Amino acid sequence: MASRSEASTALPEPSKGLSGIVAADTTLSFIDGEKGILKYCGYGIDDLAASSSFEEVVCLLYDRSLPSRERLAGMRARIGAARVLPSEVKQVIEQLAGRTSPMSTLRTVVSALGHYESNVPLKELPPKALRLVGQIAAAVAMIHRLREGQAPIEANPERGHAADFLHMLLGREVTETQARALDLYLILLADHGFNASTFSGRVTAGTLANLHSAITSSVGTLSGPLHGGANEKAMEMIIKVGSPDNAAEWVAERIAAKKRIMGFGHRVYKVDDPRAPHLKASSRALWEERGDTTLFETSVAIEQAVKAAKPLITNVDFYSATLLYGLDIPTDLFTPLFAMSRVAGWTAHVLEQYGDNRLIRPRARYVGKADRTYVPLKQR
Ligand code: ACO
Repeated sequence: MASRSEASTALPEPSKGLSGIVAADTTLSFIDGEKGILKYCGYGIDDLAASSSFEEVVCLLYDRSLPSRERLAGMRARIGAARVLPSEVKQVIEQLAGRTSPMSTLRTVVSALGHYESNVPLKELPPKALRLVGQIAAAVAMIHRLREGQAPIEANPERGHAADFLHMLLGREVTETQARALDLYLILLADHGFNASTFSGRVTAGTLANLHSAITSSVGTLSGPLHGGANEKAMEMIIKVGSPDNAAEWVAERIAAKKRIMGFGHRVYKVDDPRAPHLKASSRALWEERGDTTLFETSVAIEQAVKAAKPLITNVDFYSATLLYGLDIPTDLFTPLFAMSRVAGWTAHVLEQYGDNRLIRPRARYVGKADRTYVPLKQR
């Protein structure tokens, strides 16, 4: 390695990937990775999974308290009314759908939506942030319909967010089990501390850039296979393995080749992700309703084989994969679906950042060559 400059060696040892660094306080979610605990604003994820809805979780994240019945009804109506897009943004989707990946179209759509919102003071920002929650769902449904050559379906604000989205995407009524499965998915992925996409949104907001710039950063960050893109890769793996009988051999080969297995491992959790058992149970129910549990049983066999071979934990993306696929959602829409949930947390975090802002600006330790003499171009 090159010699280090004196100034740089005076800096503390960097934490690669900011591992273990506490960057700020939050009142949104609490994670205990050793014990496998996740809470939103003090409410355990198990209780929220059992009894709440996505709209109720959005209220919780925005207000830091559970809503009254009136507040929840108002929230449902506002998110429902926001499941529409400005006509200019629809034109953007018409240009891009089917030509780029849905996640890349979604990133452009979020950026474009910023053109149709005025800059407003902090106290007026929550309604604008909330609109994004509805608009992202509308955009994901429209991207898919158009690339399939189908007409977009208008929102019905009377329906719950999950059920209406599925109707807008698939063009059919869904069963209670299906609507509940997606609602559960949206609840469980809504917030998760300073995960990479939330953190990048907060970094952007920390410069006092506007809301849409921050959420565009978040969407871009979510797209990578080590973060939100892992669910898509996990499903591709389960389809490839194809049968529980093939799982042990496939996993052994993968581990021998020192390749990562998507849906396993986590920076924070040292035990199974507390969201995984809820997603697994819901996924099982969906596949049982479909009458063919082969892919679900394949995922269970992969999980067993991975755990027998390596001390890896199951993360949120693994059973998200079979849950979403069991809803007839194509794999390249998995990460956009993740964004559709996480936008609740992203926007709540961006509002929290604006509310008590300080520019986020860590140091880098320079380890390149020191004190070099400049050589003019004609002498090189
Ligand atoms: N498969 C195989 N080995 C793994 C996996 C995995 N999925 N995850 C971690 N490891 C191994 C690494 O090879 C490494 O082993 P080594 O020390 O022998 O080289 C060790 O575990 C530590 O891995 P790191 O990459 O240093 O851990 P880090 O905390 O940086 O990474 C991450 C966490 C990125 C999630 C990692 O576990 C991974 O790549 N998982 C697969 C992708 C995935 O599922 N991402 C979704 C995460 S949840 C989310 O973002 C919503």
